[in-house]
Amino acid sequence: MAINYNERIKTFYLQGERFSYIFRITDGGRLQPLHFGTRIKEQDVSYIAEGRKTEFAPTAPGSETESLDVLTQEYPVYGLGDYREPAILVLTPDGGRTADFVYRSHAVLKEKPKIGGMPSLRGGETLVIELKDEIYDLTLRLYYTVYEKQGAIVRRATLKNGGEKAVFINKINSFSLDIPRCDLDKVCLQGGWAKERGVERSPLSHGIFEISSTRGSSSHHLNPFIALCDKNADENVGEAYAFNLVYSGSFSVKTQVDQLGITRIGGGINEKDFCWRLNSGESFETPEAVLIYSAAGFNKMSQNFHDLYRKFLINPAYAYKKRPVVLNCWESFYFDFDYKSVSKLIEKAKGTGIDTFVLDDGWFGNRNSDKTGLGDWSVNYDKLPYGLKALSKQCRAAGMKFGVWIEPEMVSEDSVLYRAHPDWIIRSPKAEPCKGRHQYVLDFSKPEVVEYIKRVISDLIKENDVSYVKWDMNRNITEFYSDYLKERSSELAHRYILGVYALAEHLTTKFKNVFFEGCSGGGGRFDPAMLYYFPQIWASDNTDALSRAYIQYGTSFCYPLSAISGHVSASPNHQTGRITPFSSRAAVASFCSTGFELDLNALDEKDMDGIKNHVKFYGEISDIILKGDLYRLLSPFDSNYFSQIVVSENKKKAVFILMKKLACCNDEYPVIKLKGLNENFTYEANGRLYGGDALMNVGMKFGNDLKDFETVITVFTAKGD
Ligand code: DGJ
Repeated sequence: MAINYNERIKTFYLQGERFSYIFRITDGGRLQPLHFGTRIKEQDVSYIAEGRKTEFAPTAPGSETESLDVLTQEYPVYGLGDYREPAILVLTPDGGRTADFVYRSHAVLKEKPKIGGMPSLRGGETLVIELKDEIYDLTLRLYYTVYEKQGAIVRRATLKNGGEKAVFINKINSFSLDIPRCDLDKVCLQGGWAKERGVERSPLSHGIFEISSTRGSSSHHLNPFIALCDKNADENVGEAYAFNLVYSGSFSVKTQVDQLGITRIGGGINEKDFCWRLNSGESFETPEAVLIYSAAGFNKMSQNFHDLYRKFLINPAYAYKKRPVVLNCWESFYFDFDYKSVSKLIEKAKGTGIDTFVLDDGWFGNRNSDKTGLGDWSVNYDKLPYGLKALSKQCRAAGMKFGVWIEPEMVSEDSVLYRAHPDWIIRSPKAEPCKGRHQYVLDFSKPEVVEYIKRVISDLIKENDVSYVKWDMNRNITEFYSDYLKERSSELAHRYILGVYALAEHLTTKFKNVFFEGCSGGGGRFDPAMLYYFPQIWASDNTDALSRAYIQYGTSFCYPLSAISGHVSASPNHQTGRITPFSSRAAVASFCSTGFELDLNALDEKDMDGIKNHVKFYGEISDIILKGDLYRLLSPFDSNYFSQIVVSENKKKAVFILMKKLACCNDEYPVIKLKGLNENFTYEANGRLYGGDALMNVGMKFGNDLKDFETVITVFTAKGD
């Protein structure tokens, strides 16, 4: 049993293989965290929370002694003397803002209940705690699911209005946690378009720090991931507490260090774009939050995330299944293609081993640039006179599958759809609507809009024998007003994302054999909720090998390599202009779900051989990349190198990569100690034998004369296999 309750000391024990999450019910009926860290035996550890007091701290209603301002809490409320960030703020029918929630009961469920209309992790034993505000008849339920092997707790909350009148939820976190220390650093994944998920570390300090998005999507800029860690934590040592929201919309996670050195962390839907009317009898469910503990630094934290997401989040039909090796034509043509050029590209791909051709943006409506045509999901016969069917047929004949690009949440002003339904977009009621990439966002809070898109995209897939769909989303949302929701438009940001989930659920359930890839102007919606529907996500519009080394390194903090879609593209690179050898581009694209993004007709014979070799090589290592354990060895953020190794579960195979950023004359010789191998195995690589113990303790030595961006990739195979 992973969950136990000790009635005598009113303490809950959530026990994993190597971690414990312990909290208790205080005399005032509040939930108080006691320990989130290395596993300990069940015992009374309430001493850790005792005796905190300070002047000027108000006492809680009905208590002479309990002050919420100094109490460590699992789910703090607003307005009753705790001046730190609340987890919940409810506007009551009388205009008050102080709903209070105290413990009533709890239950342990064998199976984790699903959330309605939102992605969630599959799971087992789940603790549900019921807290109640008796005055307004509001019931708050907190859910905790334990993942024993992955060092993880998954949390969420629901609120039910049992009162007669509506209340308004101003804020409702997926989780909150008080950690009784503040000598910590924080690590975030920050960036922007074409430079997603850069690793940034800084000391935690007093006051509030926030990672957030108000863009209507989880964003390129700050991923809904944060880790708090020991000052001396690195990839291999130190405690790390990591948090990731299973949410694709506007979010917020805040840390706050208080006067007594307690660190509060909590997050969920961003309250800036959120005020939800909860009518009598209705319930509201938050998205989930994943809490991970690692006693062995960031690498273990990441392995826990990877294992958790592959086993319990990503569609099991695809999680460990070989991914299609794709040729995507975006960087081959952009909008400038016709039947002849596409058909020639497909012909050229024949026999290379590439197994899916994906026709990117520009195949529909009057889409000749990014200014027109979005929303009209029928073929542009001027460009493709024989329709998609002919291309799909040609792909099959060439031994490949056929895929298409869609951007179902958007509409261009110059489109049949917009002319027919100008009222279907998100816009302020009176002012001229904002555009982003010349396009409008469809109001996915309107059921008729989602129903219409369900129909047209279903027809598109069915009629054209489509096996692969790349689902893009190329602008941020502005003017959160809906003429459907009207005065309830403060619910739009969340209802929009519920509409996106409804469409994704519908299409991925209806077309079980179609492979869906997520995308948002590159990696603008790279989050666990998208991963629930899309087993892999296009990580960035930046396809340059060096930039990708950074992006893939940062992304791996939280997401498995199989979730990262990365392609070999042209040199000079279209985004950075950088010239890199084919071998480097292929090597970096091997450490993810691979594919190609270039005009094969522009390649010489040598590079065409490179394509074939890469497909073949990737076929040999893809099982390790999909299922293996990742060890980050050298960070491009902190060194002149990027290096990782992925080791198969039985440790009999491993793939290693080393990229040098810039050549240096008379440079130091890099010696890299490998990780994760079996010390008793003898490994063969490049015709030489190495002891696993030597590789991990003596290390591998590389030349000091590697050129700019030169990349070494090595496969280690245990002898006798
Ligand atoms: C942004 C994507 O990230 C690109 O790969 C490409 O699909 C374009 N959109 C098409 O408009």
